[in-house]
This record gives sequence, C-alpha cells and structure tokens, in this order.
Amino acid sequence: MQRIGVIPGDGIGPEVINEARKVLDAVSEKRGLNFEFEEFPLGAGHYLKTGEVLSDETLQRLAKKDAILLGAMGDPRVKPGILENGVLLRLRFHFDQYINLRPIKLLDGVPSPLAESNRRIDIQFVRENTEDFYVGLGGRVKKGLSKTELVLKRRTYEAKFDVGIDLEDEPEMAFQIGVITRQGTKRVLDYAFQLAKSKKIGLVTCVDKANVLTEMYGLWREVADEVSKKHGVEREFQYVDAVALHMVRTPERFKLIVSPNLFGDILTDLGAAIQGGLGFAPSGNINPSGVSMFEPVHGSAPDIAGKGLANPVGAILSSALMLETLGHKDASAEIERAVQDVLKSGKNKTADIGGKTSTSEIGDAVVEHLSKG
Ligand code: NAI
Ligand code: MG
Repeated sequence: MQRIGVIPGDGIGPEVINEARKVLDAVSEKRGLNFEFEEFPLGAGHYLKTGEVLSDETLQRLAKKDAILLGAMGDPRVKPGILENGVLLRLRFHFDQYINLRPIKLLDGVPSPLAESNRRIDIQFVRENTEDFYVGLGGRVKKGLSKTELVLKRRTYEAKFDVGIDLEDEPEMAFQIGVITRQGTKRVLDYAFQLAKSKKIGLVTCVDKANVLTEMYGLWREVADEVSKKHGVEREFQYVDAVALHMVRTPERFKLIVSPNLFGDILTDLGAAIQGGLGFAPSGNINPSGVSMFEPVHGSAPDIAGKGLANPVGAILSSALMLETLGHKDASAEIERAVQDVLKSGKNKTADIGGKTSTSEIGDAVVEHLSKG
C-alpha cells in the first residue's frame, strides 16, 4: 500500500483534483493497485477560519506519505503570497524537492501555436528547484558605505556573506546574489541523466549562460561534463536565449532539457504555451529519496472557479506523473493514453481551448476509456 496526501487547495484546485482522483481510482481498480488517500484541507478556507497556513503537525503527517498530490493555492480574499509561499514554497523547501520535472508534450487534438505544422513535441524538462538566483540573497544600498550580512542556510550546507559596498555617484543600488553549488548541481544533473537513460534518450541538452555568467554556469558545465561521462549519455550545451528560439522554431529537436532554476522557470512557461496552455501542463516537485509533490502548473484561477470550466488535464497528467515516480509505469502510461484518446477525437474540449466540455465530463471520459481499454 502507498499513502498519498491530497491537498486540493483553492479555487479550481478541488475541482481538478476531484477528476484526478476519479482517474486514479479507476486505474487502481483495474490494475489492483492499493493507495490510501488522506485529504489535507489547506488553503484560504482553512487559513481564514483558523489563522493557520501550514502547521508543524501537518508537515509531520505529510512526511509519512509516499507522495503528495496538490491542486492549487491562492485566493483573492488572502493577501498574495501568504498561501502560495506559506504552503507551496514551504513544502518544496521542507521536503527538499530539488527537482522540478515538467514534461512538455503536445497531445493530438490540442491546438498549439505551433500545431499547424504537425509537430511532435515531447520534451522532458528538468529544472533545478533550490539554487541559482532564487536563494533569496540580496539587498538595497544607498550612496556611500554600507555593509550587509547575508546567510544562506540549506539542509546540506550553510554560507555566510559579508557584503561591503562603497557606492559612489549613484543614489541607490540593488543587488541579488546567485548561488550554485557542486553538490546542488550534481544531484539535479544526476537525476536528469538517469531519467534520460531510463527513457532511452540519447542526448541531454544542458541550458546555461556560461558566456556571460561565467562563474556560476562555468561550474554548472564542469559538473554536467562529469555527470554525462559517468552515466554514458551524450550532452550538449546551449545558451538559454538559443533554447528559447529553438523551443519555438524547432521544439521537436529537444528530448530532455536540464536547466538551472531561473532559466528553467521562464522556459517551462514557454513550454506550457507550446503544449496548448496552462490547463494541460503537469509537474512534479521531486526529491528521489524523500516526499515528492505533484501538481498542475496552473494556479487557482479564481476567475473560472466553481463554474465547471476548468481543464483538469494538467491535474490528471500530474497524477500519472506521480504514479510513474512511485514505480507504476504501466498505470501511468495507461492514463496518458486514455487522456490522449479522449482529446484526439476533438469532441472533448474545455473552454480554455474553445470548447464546451465541462471539467467533470473530461474526467468521466478518461475513466470510461480506462475501463474500456
Ligand atoms: P492561474 O494559472 O490561476 O490562471 C491564469 C489564467 O489561466 C486564468 O485566466 C485562468 O482562468 C486560466 N487557467 C488556469 N488554469 C486553468 C485550467 N486548468 N483550465 C482553464 N483555464 C485555466 O494564474 P493567476 O491568475 O496568475 O493566479 C491565480 C492565483 O493562483 C493566484 O493566487 C496565484 O498566486 C496562484 N497561483 C498558484 C500556483 C500554484 O498553486 N502552483 C501557480 C500559479 C499561480
Ligand atoms: Mg513560473
């Protein structure tokens, strides 16, 4: 038996998670898989009632799960950031989910800005999730002499920065420190190259900007070379600007892209666009030796919540990604095939791609396909 913590969250979160649960139940029954689900009512409702965002006790209960499935966080009644940072970022950090896995696949029947040319877009995108310019180190200084002490505390290391600045002929300056460590880089690259091997992908594209940000991405390249040799999988280096261009013009050339945090953040949204939009994009925040969390890429979409308009495909594919990571490859592939069959016909389109099919009708159609196939 595997234990799944479910956090439906806010807005359309519960609506799309409901569909993912239906699909998980159907595939479990068919294949004799045994999951125990426990729901955690985190989000705006819980926060407004209790004043609590995420308690230590909840963290301890989630720590005993094999995986977490999450809908979305964020509600117009709550100041932006409280729920998003207080739940999402806290969970990613607490469970050291250092990999953000974002498959970018254009399914048949889904309109993409590039689909007219009948593209085979199927990219495994691996984004580093803990370092780079997202470590929260920086400051603002005024003209003259200043001294700032910054501390970076991570589970596996700690670094102190004494930043002394003597600013002349300018009233104000802001700075941000980006950080890349050898271990932090090695672990995400190890994951990416292993994923390439398990998916029989022969070439890994490593993104950076080593021509300008030479220190950080110089180390990134050095480690990538070592890891590529260790796993016996070819690698290529590409600058982030070139990757953006190729993702639009020739996305079919990429099979697996691994990227530092900041560039990965931007490129994966471009990826969601070319796969048909936010409603289709699944993701996993992964710690291969800890608790991983799977969620659709979209947010809580308060503008369409409660109307049956949400596209549940991103959430359903996130649950498939969860199954794959938990070792159920066949069940995962079966869900993906069922989703593909449901969309291919062109009859099942939610409002985001110009159709009239409701959230639950998509889920029902996927379940029906699973029981037929
Ligand atoms: P959003 O992703 O919620 O919505 C952006 C646009 O896409 C909206 O017009 C929405 O209707 C549409 N959309 C999103 N998902 C859809 C789906 N499954 N089907 C059909 N249409 C869909 O992003 P937005 O509006 O910037 O943020 C809303 C709230 O969600 C905010 O509180 C934000 O902080 C939060 N958020 C949470 C995320 C998470 O839980 N991982 C990620 C992004 C935003
Ligand atoms: Mg983003």
